Amino acid sequence: MQPADQEFYRIKKLPPYVFAVINEMKAKARAAQLDVVDLGMGNPDGATPRPIVSKLVEAARNPRNHRYSASRGIPQLRLEIVKRYKANYGVTLDADKEAIVTIGAKDALAHLLFAVIGPGDAVVSPNPCYPIHQYGVIMAEGHACMLPMPDPATFLSSLEDLYRKSTRKPRMILISFPQNPTTQCVDLDFFREIIRLAGHHGTMVVHDFAYADLCFDGYTAPSILQIDGAKEVAVEIFSLSKSYNMPGWRVGFCLGNPRMIAALARIKSYLDYGVFQPIQIASIIALRECEAETKKICAVYQKRRDVLIDGLKRAGWPVEPPRGTMFVWAPLPEQHRAIGSLEFSKLLLEKALVAVSPGIGFGPMGEGHVRFALIENPHRTRQATSAIKRMLAGAR
Ligand SMILES: Cc1ncc(COP(=O)(O)O)c(C=O)c1O
Repeated sequence: MQPADQEFYRIKKLPPYVFAVINEMKAKARAAQLDVVDLGMGNPDGATPRPIVSKLVEAARNPRNHRYSASRGIPQLRLEIVKRYKANYGVTLDADKEAIVTIGAKDALAHLLFAVIGPGDAVVSPNPCYPIHQYGVIMAEGHACMLPMPDPATFLSSLEDLYRKSTRKPRMILISFPQNPTTQCVDLDFFREIIRLAGHHGTMVVHDFAYADLCFDGYTAPSILQIDGAKEVAVEIFSLSKSYNMPGWRVGFCLGNPRMIAALARIKSYLDYGVFQPIQIASIIALRECEAETKKICAVYQKRRDVLIDGLKRAGWPVEPPRGTMFVWAPLPEQHRAIGSLEFSKLLLEKALVAVSPGIGFGPMGEGHVRFALIENPHRTRQATSAIKRMLAGAR
């Protein structure tokens, strides 16, 4: 029998996750009782704030909440996200037509692409990027058009070039800032330009705002919906995973353009019955009562960022501190550049017992970098940078 990745039409287009190699090595090292500091996957380690958990427990005891819920989300939860957008960004949204609850940002992204992208439709996004931004397009049989993004200004000028020169106009621009993995951040002027271009050329825009609240040093990430006229072409995807330490709960939102929201709602009405209702009820508490918790979560990441950057500097590996996300994106140290990000990540695991994500896993333009996720406490992060220091000193 053929292995699944050669046998099935869609699976053939999805290569195995590059990160699996590192995960396997990590599992083997841990099975051998070795203490690996895991800075690999962006999986928040903090507890969900207590009021949210308490509400979940209370709501789970009520049999009325055990039935199928509403695929597009219960009205009260949609109202609550709309209120948060008004309070935080001054953006007005219609809770019925311009807001839908999703099973995390991944569900929103994958199914929105499935709903609105057809065979051969070009979707432009920066590379490197979060893998679903590329493979969600491929699964929808669109054409994933990757533009390099050393920084947002370069991405924008390549996009303008593409509009000028290409005969195949993009159907969609898919972006995400603060960006995983590069940690690049933007301001409102960047979004203004994106919306202007998209409006002019009739292109849809999707902005994945998964790291909306993980901003440091006084920086506040803007919402694309703050731009006048954004709702005519754009949707924004917001997630509770990072802002409220709720990655396992699977709650997100798609907000903005009513046509795109209606398309997503239609697809989802065939695919799911909505998030388990007690989780939706608890999510109302997150949005209504836990803004202070979000600030604390962000402060935890900022502290870890500082410890990591400081430790890497001492190891002779200076890296720019990010203004947002829960990651540090580091160019490979000079003396290891030639071996590439995957081999270097393996080396880090073998010699320093530190797991990171190789840049190549985020697309060809991620080569030459590794990504650290800030998911270990300061003590463990220091342990990692001390081990990296010893490893790099040995290689000199
Ligand atoms: C850019 C980006 N979007 C979306 C997600 C996933 O979010 P969710 O947990 O809401 O599916 C992640 C998770 O790492 C991410 O980095």
